[in-house]
Amino acid sequence: MSHFFVTRRIPDAGLAILRAAGEVEVAPTPDGESTPREQVLDGARRAAVHVSLLTEAVDRELMEAGPQLRGISNYAVGFNNVDVAAATELGLPVSNTPGVLTDTTADLAWALLMAAARKIVPADRYMREGRYRIWGPSLMLGADVSPGGDGRRKVLGIVGFGRIGQGMHRRAQGFDMDVLAHDPPMKHIIEARDDVEYAEFDDLLARSDFVTIHTDLNPSTHHLFGSEAFARMKQTAIVINTARGPVVHEEALVEALDSGQIAGAGLDVFEFEPAFHPGLARSDKVVMVPHIASASVATRDRMATMCAENAVAHLRGERAPNCVNPEVYETEAYRRRRR
Ligand code: GLV
Ligand code: GLV
Repeated sequence: MSHFFVTRRIPDAGLAILRAAGEVEVAPTPDGESTPREQVLDGARRAAVHVSLLTEAVDRELMEAGPQLRGISNYAVGFNNVDVAAATELGLPVSNTPGVLTDTTADLAWALLMAAARKIVPADRYMREGRYRIWGPSLMLGADVSPGGDGRRKVLGIVGFGRIGQGMHRRAQGFDMDVLAHDPPMKHIIEARDDVEYAEFDDLLARSDFVTIHTDLNPSTHHLFGSEAFARMKQTAIVINTARGPVVHEEALVEALDSGQIAGAGLDVFEFEPAFHPGLARSDKVVMVPHIASASVATRDRMATMCAENAVAHLRGERAPNCVNPEVYETEAYRRRRR
């Protein structure tokens, strides 16, 4: 039995904290590969704390496989890979790594927005392919993010006005954009501010030049962006997704891009990750990267530290600093696991 089972290697900053607190077993998965499910289940059967990456499902079967489990520590801010309702019922606190990756993620979302607007990727490819012969007025024409040539303040629509969505709002200020936000639970907070306008979803889609997605993935946001949503957007609109792939119906997105219903997309996440629709790869309107929004050295190290500190708290029966289901601490199921 180990104290901590780690489904795939996390940065050393986190492993050092785990090792100082107990026995650590890291699945010996080579970098870039996934840990087989059987091995993940096996780890959960032996460990007191399950430390998971977002690539491994933490479902009821896994939690029931480990009667000695005391908690789940997810190395990510998103936790759609974890069945939190089942965890709560089974007396298991679940933790994530919020806050630290807010600006790193917003930076990448902004980079995708800029890249899609200004055709950075096709232009780079054009250079590498040796096609740049002469400058010309219509070479790689893109869209303004700032007021630019027509002087019109561009509209950024933020869907999901949490930490990262608000980070996009801060960035938009530097580009003289008008900001719309849609996030029903945040409606009063948004309406109390004078630098952002609350908009219903359809209204936001119709008015935005750029739509950026920062919701979590849950049944109400699954395929929130489908053919109906794309049909409401401007033909010049660019959509950015750094949240979770299934918030966008990828096939509908490809259709919207191919038919000219919208103008571009910047994608960090995919519906069936790591797979993606082949229509994305053949479109010059798409910029896509492999789920790297939080990928800076410092941020990934800090995520590892937070993840490890949460895991140590789970082991010791202390309240984890970043518990997503704190109600679990009041349950009989939780107390039973501590006996
Ligand atoms: C990354 O996608 C995360 O949720 O941290
Ligand atoms: C472009 O290079 C310009 O000088 O306008």
